[in-house]
Amino acid sequence: MAIKILIVDDITETRENIKRLLYFEKDMMVVGEASDGDEAVRQTQKLNPDIVLMDINMPTSDGITATQEISLKYPKTAIIIMSVQGEQEYLKKAMVAGAREYMVKPFSTDELVDTIRRVCDFEKRRRIHLTEPSMVKELQRDPQIITVFSTKGGVGKTSIATNLAISLAEETRKKVVIMDLDLQFGDVAVMLNIIPKRTITEIIQDINQLDSELLEGYLISHPTGVKVLPCPTRPEYAELITGAHVEKIMGVLKQNYDYIVIDTPHYFHETTLTALDLCHQILLVVSLDLPTIKNVKLGLEVLDSLHLKGKVKLILNRSAEDMGIKHEDMEENLNMKIAAHIPSDGRTVVSSLNKGDPFVMTHPNTKITESIRELARMVMIGEVKLSRVSGVNEKKGLLGRLFG
Ligand SMILES: Nc1ncnc2c1ncn2[C@@H]1O[C@H](COP(=O)(O)OP(=O)(O)OP(=O)(O)O)[C@@H](O)[C@H]1O
Ligand SMILES: [Mg+2]
Repeated sequence: MAIKILIVDDITETRENIKRLLYFEKDMMVVGEASDGDEAVRQTQKLNPDIVLMDINMPTSDGITATQEISLKYPKTAIIIMSVQGEQEYLKKAMVAGAREYMVKPFSTDELVDTIRRVCDFEKRRRIHLTEPSMVKELQRDPQIITVFSTKGGVGKTSIATNLAISLAEETRKKVVIMDLDLQFGDVAVMLNIIPKRTITEIIQDINQLDSELLEGYLISHPTGVKVLPCPTRPEYAELITGAHVEKIMGVLKQNYDYIVIDTPHYFHETTLTALDLCHQILLVVSLDLPTIKNVKLGLEVLDSLHLKGKVKLILNRSAEDMGIKHEDMEENLNMKIAAHIPSDGRTVVSSLNKGDPFVMTHPNTKITESIRELARMVMIGEVKLSRVSGVNEKKGLLGRLFG
């Protein structure tokens, strides 16, 4: 059955544009329109849509109040907020009011369609969870794998991955593991002040017998409860690890963990590609300098050719620094909106790094920690089912697709 969509925006042209974007989607149907919040509530009652695409600022009655009313009265309808840049404050309110996702205008067809499908999928799972206890166990074991990646070195991947892992554990109280796939020069252990006795190298020797119990013995506990799978102790051991090994390890980790955060090097190695392919969300880290933008643009093109772009979220690190390039220009150049901003804060990052204590622990009241918490929430909201977004089941391997 087609997904029923209600479009709420005070500007007729915007509504028309969205209708046009959705026109060719066979599994979606625009069932109605509204030009303010009150009308949105009335139309939701009348049309019973699956999705409401909701503008925030409308002259007569706003989208946040309507979001709250709809989520309370018609919980089967999911709301996706459409905001313009600079409405961050409202976005938070909209999420608290019960919105499921947000998109920053203008968005592409892919973005819109992907977001609608993802939210519907999540809603379906949520409903089953509420109504069918027998399926709850199955659903609880639907972990999220988040790969932190960039096609440029030194942009802050490891800082973000480690702090995100801890923040996810704090926010969700669920089981989190971080895996260091920067196999030659990984920094996860050092950033978490861990001295690895056993690493991924040793696991490879047990790979055929590997099960969750055996793997657990290789993981190192961080005081926060986050588990760590460190990279090899020597760069030359990296060669021993293949994409197939990584796939096996990820599969076993999924049996026991709710969130698997993967740190990566800045290039498309076979093992990185496996992580990118099998993960649910790719956090692509970028900073506002030309070489990084150039490399990330190339990286995005590769990800697009591998059909992995749909799960990419662009994370701007050091966003508050005046680099002489505006982030709007970068967004235009990359043709992608920034999903999260991490401010620059050298003092906090470096001092915590030198102590080996992630800043989300040592500096809980800083802007940078708040931004990581927001990122964790975004990751939680953006939970997706893998089959929707990835070409994982395609027969030809990723490397084949890349070079074939
Ligand atoms: N938001 C930030 N503000 C200030 N400094 C930062 C920020 N993020 C990262 N850094 C600094 O940038 C440097 C590189 O960070 P990090 O090691 O996390 O990057 P990376 O992308 O993992 O690098 P590599 O490609 O070498 O693995 C570190 O010295 C870190 O302290
Ligand atoms: Mg790193």
